[in-house]
Amino acid sequence: MIMDPWSSQTVDYKKIIKEFGVSEISDDIRQFVVETAKSKNVNSKWFTHNIIFSHRDFDKFIDAHKRGESIAILTGVKPSGEFHFGTKQVIQELIMFQKLFNAKTYYCVADFEAYADNGKWIDETSETAVSNVADVLALGLDPNNAYIYRQSMEPIVQKFAYYFSRKITNATFRALYGDKSFSLYLSALTQIGDILLPQSDEHSGPKHVLVPVGIDQDPHLRLTRDVAEKNGFITPSSTYHYFMKSLDGSQKMSKRNPDSMLTLSDSDDDIKRKISKALTGGRDTVQEQKEKGGQPEKCMVYELSYYHVENIDELESRRQKCKSGELTCGECKKEIISKLITFMNKHREKKKLYLPLARAIVEKGRFDGQSKEGQEMIKRYLVKI
Ligand code: TRP
Ligand code: SF4
Repeated sequence: MIMDPWSSQTVDYKKIIKEFGVSEISDDIRQFVVETAKSKNVNSKWFTHNIIFSHRDFDKFIDAHKRGESIAILTGVKPSGEFHFGTKQVIQELIMFQKLFNAKTYYCVADFEAYADNGKWIDETSETAVSNVADVLALGLDPNNAYIYRQSMEPIVQKFAYYFSRKITNATFRALYGDKSFSLYLSALTQIGDILLPQSDEHSGPKHVLVPVGIDQDPHLRLTRDVAEKNGFITPSSTYHYFMKSLDGSQKMSKRNPDSMLTLSDSDDDIKRKISKALTGGRDTVQEQKEKGGQPEKCMVYELSYYHVENIDELESRRQKCKSGELTCGECKKEIISKLITFMNKHREKKKLYLPLARAIVEKGRFDGQSKEGQEMIKRYLVKI
């Protein structure tokens, strides 16, 4: 079985856990996260809602943290478009981890990969990169404890990619990814560089690194873990999440149906339109709904709320009102739309404040919030906060 990180195939999560030896999140891990989150007043919904469902060596990362060893967190996103809610989810996980572990957190603008995968050269994606980085900051990444960079402008990443390519053969690539273009193989090598960057000498050497991603990224982690083991780095850890279904109920997001997913740049009207059209678990008539109740387990509005809008208590109350027939889908959608619009308005305001810093970061190509230069950039471009 090959998992292709560049095609949005539907995934059988259970099968993956079995075939690739990924571990499920244990009760111990969940308890540790939830308790730590409580004591630090951090939202741990990605764990309490069981959205992060599996991992590699997350327990080892937690142990290193408990021993007070040096740790870091890292993820990356291609600047191939505005953030949709799937990306929002990854970034919120990243931010949750930054707060939980109080660790330096890396965000990679995967502009080389956007070229490899989407054919857009780096100058074509720089504006999107600015918007993406502003979203990351507005969602709550603390720039004072962050390293943000573009693959195309980070020489350590490129050096690592070249260096470690020497012992990787075509057969390995084919076994991991199937038969792909060299640019995609190159972006896999670049991703090794990304994941090992926090362990470079320039970043104070070996440390435990946690990589929150979707399970489709696991082939990159297997490759990097292998390289790490053979070259004196600490094996990186990762967490994997479920992705919410599209608003039309299909497993994967379709580029042909842009209304099937919300994005962080949607207008209020976009949100209204998309949610109005979403697949629900409602009955054919209001009468039938009153008698039999709705089916939240089949409903994309409920799914959206589960991932992105409500906490456990609010969800439970919605589920009960839906099942008892008390709530109509029309009213229910109205409530979710209004909550989302409130969130989006706040987000847009915050994003405006962060855009100048985001632009400066993307222009520079690499930003270290802990360096003197990084601190000066924060002071200069974030005066209003
Ligand atoms: N390959 C990832 C994607 O397609 C992006 C990415 C690049 C990444 N470098 C990374 C993810 C390092 C995690 C860690 O979304
Ligand atoms: Fe979905 Fe809400 Fe309708 Fe229930 S009432 S089926 S949760 S839209």
